[in-house]
Amino acid sequence: MMAKHEELRATALACAACPLVDTRTQVVFARGSPEAKLWLIGEAPGAYEDKQGQPFVGRAGELLDKILAATGIGQDEVFITNTVLCRPPGNRVPTNEEITACSVHRNALLDLWKPPLVVLLGATAARVFLGGNRLGDLRGQRVERDGRVYYATFHPAYLLRDPSKKALAWKEWQAIRDAFRQLAPDTEGEAARNAASLMPYLDQVIDTPQGTGRLVQVFRDASAVVLDREPRKVTRFPTAVLSQMLAHRRAV
Ligand code: URA
Repeated sequence: MMAKHEELRATALACAACPLVDTRTQVVFARGSPEAKLWLIGEAPGAYEDKQGQPFVGRAGELLDKILAATGIGQDEVFITNTVLCRPPGNRVPTNEEITACSVHRNALLDLWKPPLVVLLGATAARVFLGGNRLGDLRGQRVERDGRVYYATFHPAYLLRDPSKKALAWKEWQAIRDAFRQLAPDTEGEAARNAASLMPYLDQVIDTPQGTGRLVQVFRDASAVVLDREPRKVTRFPTAVLSQMLAHRRAV
């Protein structure tokens, strides 16, 4: 399957089927693992993505990564791509012609890997996969179609423009996380994964006399920063995990 995947990638990277070929720097194919049970599909690459050749690496991508970290879903557990693989000039919404031209790549990938769970980020992806309904009508609902489960949620760029929607988004992401963990039980342990994503904050507490109690507080603060939401429950970071991390950091 990986050989076929590489073939599809090579075809996509050389695609000249729509006018975006004239303005793009490069085709932005995907990042993550195509075997992942969870696929995230956005709208189209922006300026950073066009430059770097990777989807969701600008500010919206940063927020998406924080959201994933907050859910405890690892970067290796997702495959991230876009409805359209080339940047529309000025980041305009892709045209129907561009979306249709790109469906060849999109459908071939979906047919090859058959991801059971697909999250549609924003109105364009929701419209392309689920039809003409407004994003507001589709958001947060589990939709079973084509033998897979879809969830539509806010585009992270929208959340950057309207942070008041983050609380709603977080509810939707919790539902997505739960649906995903039914398909892919967390063998590594969510607490450990979350703790790892918050490793940088350890530097703030290492060598303080307050020890683990202070550490727990920092983790609360750090996770609140992640999505501007209620601090997560401390029980998500068992003392054993925290002590292990502390010991590890001291040893480095
Ligand atoms: N917005 C998208 O929809 N996709 C990206 O890759 C980046 C920003």
